[in-house]
Amino acid sequence: MADFTRAGLRPSDWWREAVRPGAEQIETITELKRLIDRLEAGESLTEDEWVSLIEGRSPELADYLFEKARCIREREYGKAVYVRGLIECSNYCKNDCLYCGIRRSNRNASRYRLSREEILSCCENGYQLGFRTFVLQGGEDPAMTDDWVMEMVQAIRAGFPDCAITLSLGEKKYDTLKRWKEAGADRYLLRHETADACHYASLHPAEMSFEHRMQCLRDLKALGYQTGCGFMVGSPHQTTHCLARDMRFIEELDPEMVGIGPFIPQHDTPFGGEAAGTLEETLFLLGLLRLLKPKVLLPATTALGTIHPMGRELGILAGGNVVMPNLSPVGVRAKYMLYDNKICTGDEAAECVSCMKRRMESIGYEVVVDRGDYKG
Ligand code: SAM
Ligand code: FES
Repeated sequence: MADFTRAGLRPSDWWREAVRPGAEQIETITELKRLIDRLEAGESLTEDEWVSLIEGRSPELADYLFEKARCIREREYGKAVYVRGLIECSNYCKNDCLYCGIRRSNRNASRYRLSREEILSCCENGYQLGFRTFVLQGGEDPAMTDDWVMEMVQAIRAGFPDCAITLSLGEKKYDTLKRWKEAGADRYLLRHETADACHYASLHPAEMSFEHRMQCLRDLKALGYQTGCGFMVGSPHQTTHCLARDMRFIEELDPEMVGIGPFIPQHDTPFGGEAAGTLEETLFLLGLLRLLKPKVLLPATTALGTIHPMGRELGILAGGNVVMPNLSPVGVRAKYMLYDNKICTGDEAAECVSCMKRRMESIGYEVVVDRGDYKG
């Protein structure tokens, strides 16, 4: 028989050990629920409090959070799910982000660039399908000059006056962003990727600047764009402190949109062997974002749908209110391969839309024909 006394332990310790974690857990869960209540009441959390909340997550806490998140989302936006037609206009990129499948160093990427006519035809198709927002997204393609983009925006604005135009074309100079805004762009998505400068440096080559990306986001806000920032969940080297800083940064920037999705490795990148971000952590963060920014436009992303067949439905149930079906021509879909196994690369836009409508209806939500502006 083991000598518990000599080891500094008593049999009652085993008993206490068996009970104490439960008791502590209850205490902790009550404390963590209190943090969620404070967030709901519009109070700021410290970085350490964010860390406790994110690290202390459990199924019970998540249920508590998601119920509140859904309640707030329905108070602000009802059961509406906004759709954005994503047009992936170019996969050429001068940048070399370590996580991204279309980085310039990836010689296996088969490059393409849509013509102006192709983009307008995607918009026409999307309009018929009920889209009232078009998102032009692409790598930082030097051949897509500032003037070319400006003329593209003007053409979409003239052809689809009742639609919102969102750009997601990377970091640009203030004057460029200003000209595009004057040409008719309404919104701009530029994920900050991480609010921690050291983490940023571990995800990007030295020539890319954390400060510059942050400055672009501030410029977008100053220019009156509905601005979207965001980050990948579970990106290599990400710690809970990085996530806590992301939450505090988002609170301070006060963006109209936040795009988060799991990091997913792409086999031709330096991070090809890294683990993907998880569904449960992404959902938990979506719920927290809804509490932090009750009116935010928050997509259940394609990446979330890629790591789990019900990822987008779960994202909406965790507090999301936007989905972004693909409007790109089917012939180029598989070439915009940011990460492995990306879904919806073979379907026509019409199929994606009806699939999305069914998915949202199956959870009691409704895809609406609406520009889906921020209700500020
Ligand atoms: N060039 C623009 C920019 O930098 O904002 C837009 C295109 S970029 C490919 C869009 C987003 O894709 C990035 O902000 C990044 O968060 C996400 N992304 C890239 N690689 C990814 C990966 N391996 N897993 C998940 N998301 C990824
Ligand atoms: Fe440029 Fe990904 S490295 S879009």
